[in-house]
Amino acid sequence: MANDTAIVILAAGKGTRLKSERAKVLHEAGGLPLLVQVLRSAKALRLPTAVVVGHQAKLIEPLLKPFAARAVRQAQQLGTGHALRVALDALPRRFRHLLVIPGDAPLLRAETLLALLKVHLSQQAAATVLTTRLENPQGYGRILRTPSGEVEAIVEQSALRPDQLELREVNSGVYCFARAKVAAQLPRLTRANIHREYYLTDVFALLRAAGEKLIAYVTADSEEILGANTPAELAQLDQILRWRKAEALMRVGVTIYQPESVAIAPDVIVGPDTVIEPGAQLLGSTRIGRRCRIGAYTILRDARLADDVSVKPHCLILSSRLGPGVVVGPFAHLRDAADIRRQARIGNYVEVKKSVVGEATKALHLTYLGDATIGKRTNVGAGTITCNYDGVAKHPTTIADEVFIGSGTELVAPVKVGKGAYIAAGS
Ligand code: UD1
Ligand code: CA
Repeated sequence: MANDTAIVILAAGKGTRLKSERAKVLHEAGGLPLLVQVLRSAKALRLPTAVVVGHQAKLIEPLLKPFAARAVRQAQQLGTGHALRVALDALPRRFRHLLVIPGDAPLLRAETLLALLKVHLSQQAAATVLTTRLENPQGYGRILRTPSGEVEAIVEQSALRPDQLELREVNSGVYCFARAKVAAQLPRLTRANIHREYYLTDVFALLRAAGEKLIAYVTADSEEILGANTPAELAQLDQILRWRKAEALMRVGVTIYQPESVAIAPDVIVGPDTVIEPGAQLLGSTRIGRRCRIGAYTILRDARLADDVSVKPHCLILSSRLGPGVVVGPFAHLRDAADIRRQARIGNYVEVKKSVVGEATKALHLTYLGDATIGKRTNVGAGTITCNYDGVAKHPTTIADEVFIGSGTELVAPVKVGKGAYIAAGS
């Protein structure tokens, strides 16, 4: 792509309609903040990117780092037109074309952004707007066209005349501009509207009056342009993003029952022939192998599951590793680098923290294993507890291979149990 093009993402607004203290672009859909979703799509274009930030800028700026995007501060949020003006003041002269993207439209696809930019550059337009037709265009700016079909202006919902309410072609808020052309018009924007803001949309009428070439690129996938302005819209976009991820996994052979009920974060990897039951949440950087089963309402975050692992319903598994053929749950809690080796079994109401559970070892009922290293083929009886904390410090428990630990044993750490040892119940 042309190396004289820059991307500008507008993300300074508060998002008044969300009725939240938190900046709109920090709200999550599909497991990531809205702005991160937009940055991910934009990244594919490999263009220098500036993000206009204002409301909660300090919380937003750290999100930009992994994308090598720079932040431009808009101290006062005086409208989208003002936001672009602030960005242009900060953008080096060598950028002669701009791709402007709203920070609250997480469904936009990289291919669409690229197609828009290509049309803009090849047509040598002053401004190109991404539009679509919506069944319910309520809330979006509308595209006004001349009888011959040329783009004439963009009119905000609140300024529509009664006869314009029928217009179905909406403004996505995504545009390409020839920098010099838009820069010439931005100072002429006024705040003569009900929000007393500088509307970026008004530059279209100004450019047209100046005799410049305006075009629209209409996308057929109207869903893609949806913005998250209200809590209900946010929920809708979240659902669409969840569905996109579930669909992508189903395409590679994952079975998902009631996919509308599961939440799978974008970076999660799942192998074929794995079955995911209703209500499961697979979060963070979780990776799951082949032929696994993830029970209903189980939550995995940053978990690594080998092949043939079965996690029964209602488990919470955080930053932990499960080897091949492991069976866990129901109602188990594994956390802080629990490492459950091949064929081991962790049963109901068992908590495992920062511990290694060796190959084919079993801890099946009502047990706490913390800071423990347990060997192979050991049996941990019901109700066994590693007393790892003396009120001041944590201490380790080491249990060798082929140990039998009777039910109700309290292992007061630090303690070591040798190979083949037999511990009577209630010790
Ligand atoms: C805008 C468009 C509307 C379009 C819609 C598409 C205007 C005036 N209207 O409306 O035609 O249909 O997007 O989603 O542009 N922002 C700033 N600084 C500001 C104001 C806003 O950075 O001073 C950012 C916001 O954080 C947001 C983006 O610009 O990410 C769009 O602002 P928003 O208030 O959501 O615009 P809409 O009312 O949705
Ligand atoms: Ca919006």
